Amino acid sequence: ARQYTTHSQLPSEHQMVYEMCRKFADEELAPHAGKWDKEHSFPREAVDKLNRLNLFRVACIMMNEYRRISTNVSTQSRNESRDDVIKVIAELGLMGINVSSDHNGSELDALSYAIAMEEISRGCASVGVIMSAHNSLYLYPIDTFGSEELKQQFVAPYTGHERNEKGELNIGCFGLSEPGNGSDAGAASTTAKDDGDEWIINGTKAWITNAHEAGAAIVFATTDKSLKHKGISAFVVPTNSAGFSLGAKEDKLGIRASSTANLIMDNVRIPKSNLIGELGQGFKIAMQTLDGGRIGVAGQALGIASASIDCAVRYSLERKAFGKPISELQSIQNMISKMVVARDSARLLTWRAAQLKDNKERFTREAAMAKLAASEAATMCAHQAIQILGGMGYVSDMPAERHYRDARITEIYEGTSEIQHLVIAGDVLKEYKQ
Ligand code: CAA
Ligand code: FAD
Repeated sequence: ARQYTTHSQLPSEHQMVYEMCRKFADEELAPHAGKWDKEHSFPREAVDKLNRLNLFRVACIMMNEYRRISTNVSTQSRNESRDDVIKVIAELGLMGINVSSDHNGSELDALSYAIAMEEISRGCASVGVIMSAHNSLYLYPIDTFGSEELKQQFVAPYTGHERNEKGELNIGCFGLSEPGNGSDAGAASTTAKDDGDEWIINGTKAWITNAHEAGAAIVFATTDKSLKHKGISAFVVPTNSAGFSLGAKEDKLGIRASSTANLIMDNVRIPKSNLIGELGQGFKIAMQTLDGGRIGVAGQALGIASASIDCAVRYSLERKAFGKPISELQSIQNMISKMVVARDSARLLTWRAAQLKDNKERFTREAAMAKLAASEAATMCAHQAIQILGGMGYVSDMPAERHYRDARITEIYEGTSEIQHLVIAGDVLKEYKQ
């Protein structure tokens, strides 16, 4: 299959996702992102809108596309194109982006997800992580490995069409890390005990994104610690279960509008049927989930890199020093060039990983490479953006300092950069040993 390298080469559906998310980010996220960051406030309205992204604007974009397609086609195919257009509009929704339409999802592919994550995160990196934790870490494992009963209960109502008793959109979270182990995910100490018709879960999950908003959590727990990673299973735990509580929200350097907190489980009883997949399959479910999740974080990092580039380049054209715009100074041009090269190379890696996933080929190494390169691009671009802005880069009047703070997490979560190197090198060495 063809590997896309520029937005203009993308198929029309992907271009539409790009345009739609880009406009939404410019108009509804970027103007408020600074305030959400300062107030540490969960951007509930914006997250709500992720699912009904101003259909009028989407319709306009689609109708332009329809007009373009329909100039040279017969009446019959014109009507078919129009129907396709309406179908796509009706199905758009970013809080169930990869879920099948049978379970109320948008049924878009991994490439669309990567594109959407970049554009949304360009507007607000906190909204980006809220969206990615929900889609690739919560919905994906249930949708891929769960029973039909679990999908009906914990996927279909979580794709942006149903609300909880407080009238808020249903959101999910993913609990793998623990206070005692993050990188060493196979060392999980949260336990699941078989008790007839129920599992009893005990333990604490640490650093969980969306913890304070989630109606349900994926929890990885061991039924037999002596089996190490083979003893781990994946469960869905409703957050209103007796014995389930939350830690305080972490006070973070960046992505401050998303909540991060401990999930504390004290003899939480869940039905037997809340096991995802097979007993002992949990570690592999976690690893496969993270392979896809790393494409999402790569997209988030690309968005932060792009926001930094936008801010720095625009400023360099306006700001004058020694009688001319600083954009005319070679030092500034070198920085701009380095930023764009890093961002674009990371985007190629990200789209490659997404397309491999869409083609159902192996993509573990490629997703790790994309996440590694994109997170390094994000931190470098945000760093250079502050340099280009000088003093203005260091104060919160401009978004550069927020991008700098937001970028840093992309080198830590969903596997630190050291873990990505371990995954990449491990796969390369395996290839050479064969
Ligand atoms: N897909 C399928 N199976 C996989 C796999 C993959 N990508 N990677 C490993 N496995 C399988 C192996 O084949 C092996 O199977 P067998 O038992 O049948 O042999 C098994 O899993 C164990 O593999 P390893 O020996 O390689 O496992 P390990 O204990 O050495 O750990 C690791 C490997 C890559 C370091 C892994 O622990 C890891 O990814 N750690 C990082 C954890 C992480 O990313 N956490 C993110 C939390 S979520 C988050 O942060 C959220 C957010 O951003 C919002
Ligand atoms: P450690 O594993 O203790 O690592 C410390 C250092 O040692 C790092 O530099 C690491 O790279 C290095 N190191 C460790 N092992 C190796 C090795 N084998 N080789 C080389 N170097 C190594 N987790 C979830 O489950 N769900 C979430 O939703 C979630 N969201 C998060 C949101 C935020 C804001 C944050 C900060 C974290 C989140 N996490 C989440 C947890 C995150 O995935 C972990 O912090 C991360 O995997 C690192 O684990 P750790 O913090 O325990 O660091």
